[in-house]
Amino acid sequence: MTSTVSTGSTTDQASTGGALTVDELRADLTLDQLQQLVGLVEYDEDGDVFPVTGWDAIVFVVGNATQAAHYYQSAWGMELEAYSGPENGNRDHKSYVLRSGSIRFVLNGAVDPDSALVEHHRRHGDGVIDISLEVPDVDRCVAQARKAGARVVREPEDVTDEHGTVRIAAIAAYGETVHTLVDRSRYEGPYLPGYDAAASTFKKPAGQPKRLFQALDHVVGNVELGHMDEWVEFYNRVMGFVNMAEFIGEDIATDYSALMSKVVANGNHRVKFPLNEPAPGKRKSQIDEYIEFYRGAGAQHLALATGDIIATVDALRDNGVEFLDTPDSYYEDPELRARIGEVRVPIEQLQQRGILVDRDEDGYLLQIFTKPIGDRPTVFFELIERHGSLGFGKGNFKALFEAIEREQEKRGNL
Ligand SMILES: [Fe+2]
Repeated sequence: MTSTVSTGSTTDQASTGGALTVDELRADLTLDQLQQLVGLVEYDEDGDVFPVTGWDAIVFVVGNATQAAHYYQSAWGMELEAYSGPENGNRDHKSYVLRSGSIRFVLNGAVDPDSALVEHHRRHGDGVIDISLEVPDVDRCVAQARKAGARVVREPEDVTDEHGTVRIAAIAAYGETVHTLVDRSRYEGPYLPGYDAAASTFKKPAGQPKRLFQALDHVVGNVELGHMDEWVEFYNRVMGFVNMAEFIGEDIATDYSALMSKVVANGNHRVKFPLNEPAPGKRKSQIDEYIEFYRGAGAQHLALATGDIIATVDALRDNGVEFLDTPDSYYEDPELRARIGEVRVPIEQLQQRGILVDRDEDGYLLQIFTKPIGDRPTVFFELIERHGSLGFGKGNFKALFEAIEREQEKRGNL
């Protein structure tokens, strides 16, 4: 475990805006690696009204945290590192903290039948309740958020245990999702006060890569029809996020359904939030399906960055993770072959695995999408390997949506 680390705007690492988070340092990640993995850019920190160091945690509510913790270890190669539950004083719920590289997932499941998590899970199913961000100055962020009209759901407070003190607060985002803001620069515990370090007896399969993913690239939010611009404007106004890219209407329409998407990011693009809303189409769009089954706006997919998507996908498939199928016609399309040019592996290797490829003016990316990870057709994961591209696979949207529609059809939801 590292000692206290300076985070944020007081450091002199101007190139990509600030230091690594405590978790990134613990994961032995360098700024160069992160730049490659998630596509960081230079920016002027001085004008940042809401400095963000990086992701702190993705907090899920699940129906059975005990079993989900096993799934994220056995299927996704994550490691258990902290726990809170009845055994250490939390009689309301069990909470498992797992890590892969710089990413932390927190899985919460109700123990007490009267826990608020029970009602949350009844409405939304398994999903993301909190996209938590590490910030260097919680009070400054909350003052800015309040001034800009955000709803503060937890006032800044110090929480202390024998490992030190965290400063913590939270603001409301789309649907019932919140952004907890954490300054952990004075804290050396395994997660937050109330959590004890934990380890598991689970043994990884022999030959599996040390980590199947190293960092979080982006988290996509689905919002209701007509609300995308409102949430883009929220992130602009409240967090000073910049508009990164814009895909509208025909860009991402298939014969049946359509959606609109805009992307906001913090100054150095460490934290990227694409925001989708359904657009009118002949049949029910995948965003409508999500909103129906999630009962409102929420996080749709998490893009996990890997330096070797081939090895990662092979391991995930061996572990039973299911991906969307990509038809052979995708790889045989001469237009696609001409557009993508040379990539690091023969296209046949991508075809065997159903990995998609897209190229833009900055480089290319490889990506693949899982089927929904829970019982409802809501949250799923993307694996992404970037080679210079700062995009989101715009050229693949049509192929991707057609694959999702095939699954919607099977579920009777198209
Ligand atoms: Fe994505």
